[in-house]
Amino acid sequence: MIDQESLLDILHFRHACKLFDEGKKISKDNLTFILETARLSPSSFGMEHWRFIVIKNQELKETLRPLCWDQPQITTCDALVAIVAKHELVSTPSYYEAMFARRGLGADVVQVYIQKYENYINALPSIKAWSQKQCYLAASNIMNYSAMIGIDSCPIEGFERENVEKALGIDTTKESMALFVALGYRVNPQTPKYRLAFDEVVEFIE
Ligand SMILES: Cc1cc2nc3c(=O)[nH]c(=O)nc-3n(C[C@H](O)[C@H](O)[C@H](O)COP(=O)(O)O)c2cc1C
Repeated sequence: MIDQESLLDILHFRHACKLFDEGKKISKDNLTFILETARLSPSSFGMEHWRFIVIKNQELKETLRPLCWDQPQITTCDALVAIVAKHELVSTPSYYEAMFARRGLGADVVQVYIQKYENYINALPSIKAWSQKQCYLAASNIMNYSAMIGIDSCPIEGFERENVEKALGIDTTKESMALFVALGYRVNPQTPKYRLAFDEVVEFIE
């Protein structure tokens, strides 16, 4: 077990890194570990709403940068992870039925899950938005576990959706961009962390 103080140190180390050291590359082993933490993220009904496009190609990063508010993180990071939400797949019966069936439950229990799931997704205002929300959980794992191994990150929501989806060849009838996470090593010392006080955001009801 890691002690609480060390874990909090890691959370303080993690920050939205604005500029990465272009000369420092993430090892293949570390990058695989980070993506594994993303793959293991929780998701609503266990539907794993995501896929991850890991952009190492500099030319593509250069194409994306102007579509992402010209943010330097896009071109200076070593790996730019685009997290894509699969809204069509998670609403396709053959997919979600298989996702429930893989749990090794009895057919009648699986049927109950399927019914619950269908009722749930049919009541959603937007399956696309719901799927994108799940992708943020994977992004959180990516950022926090990267910090645990000394790797910096920046979540990026500042992008022109339509243009980015086009540049990445995303079929928007089936999928949508949730967000990017840029990964690499910091150039500058991090800025101070600003957070509301504990008591302003935490309420205990006993
Ligand atoms: C979903 C999400 C999207 C964000 N998008 C951007 C972005 O496009 N560019 C950027 O520089 N920072 C972005 N940020 C970083 C936040 O501004 C930052 O997390 C916040 O100010 C707290 O600072 P810290 O992460 O350094 O502790 C984003 C953060 C989140 C969670």
